[in-house]
Amino acid sequence: MLPRFIQKMHNRLKRNLWQLPHAAVPAPFRTEAKRDANLAGEIAAYEKSAGLAHGAGSLPLRTLLRIEQLLPAREISSAETGCGKSTIFFSRISKKHRVFCLDDRDAGPSSSVRYFMNCPATRIGAVEVVYGPTQSTLPAFKAHDPYDMVLIDGPHGFPFPELEYYFFYPHLRTDGLLVLDDIHIPTIGRLADFIAEDSMFEMIERIGATAIFRRTGAPVFDPFGDGWWLQNFNRRRADFNKDVHLKDGGRRKPFSFEGRF
Ligand SMILES: C[S@@+](CC[C@H](N)C(=O)[O-])C[C@H]1O[C@@H](n2cnc3c(N)ncnc32)[C@H](O)[C@@H]1O
Repeated sequence: MLPRFIQKMHNRLKRNLWQLPHAAVPAPFRTEAKRDANLAGEIAAYEKSAGLAHGAGSLPLRTLLRIEQLLPAREISSAETGCGKSTIFFSRISKKHRVFCLDDRDAGPSSSVRYFMNCPATRIGAVEVVYGPTQSTLPAFKAHDPYDMVLIDGPHGFPFPELEYYFFYPHLRTDGLLVLDDIHIPTIGRLADFIAEDSMFEMIERIGATAIFRRTGAPVFDPFGDGWWLQNFNRRRADFNKDVHLKDGGRRKPFSFEGRF
């Protein structure tokens, strides 16, 4: 056991180095996956050869490592929408990892599917891919298992992440994690705010634009009923004088993404 002040200095250094790419962090300060000590190194090596991300952008390795630290200690089953580096990662730490994504293999080097399929670190036998837009595959899919981790990172336009949330939330185990990426997008941020206040979840961490929620033991909200008045987000804001809750978003000119989107 190291003296306390050395332990503190070590932890502080580790925190300061957290933003760096895994390979740039000196070995004693690197975080490793608890379930697979070689995984981070293998992905870091792949990032060097294939690039940090595919065309659609990837979760940073450090975010994936943090998610792994927060997972329940049992053997896990997981699912995600969209694919890429996260697929490589979860193929190695999950018994079974189900992926709902577009088949973009004809997109050449920017393909997300090729990014995980071509990676030697991917445990392809653990991955089940359901190809197609989640807007049509998720409503039709009936063979969900109870999941210990669900990552929502497929289509980002409104209301698609909400639709995905609807089809996944009844299948999350108590203590399981729900990970919502890109909460800097206003509509996804609003979904994160809703989930953070809901009795089925507690928000346990935010890493950059990624929010991590843990499923509580609260009963599953009836997916076929109504019950808006039972949801904390509504209970906190509803005004029974019938004041209308619309924020004027029209005051500011839409942001210009010229050249990017
Ligand atoms: C931001 S990327 C996912 C990044 C991935 N989590 C990683 O760590 O590399 C978004 C993914 O969603 C996929 N996608 C976009 N629209 C989709 C849709 N309607 N249905 C399914 N997947 C979709 C894209 O092809 C891409 O693979």
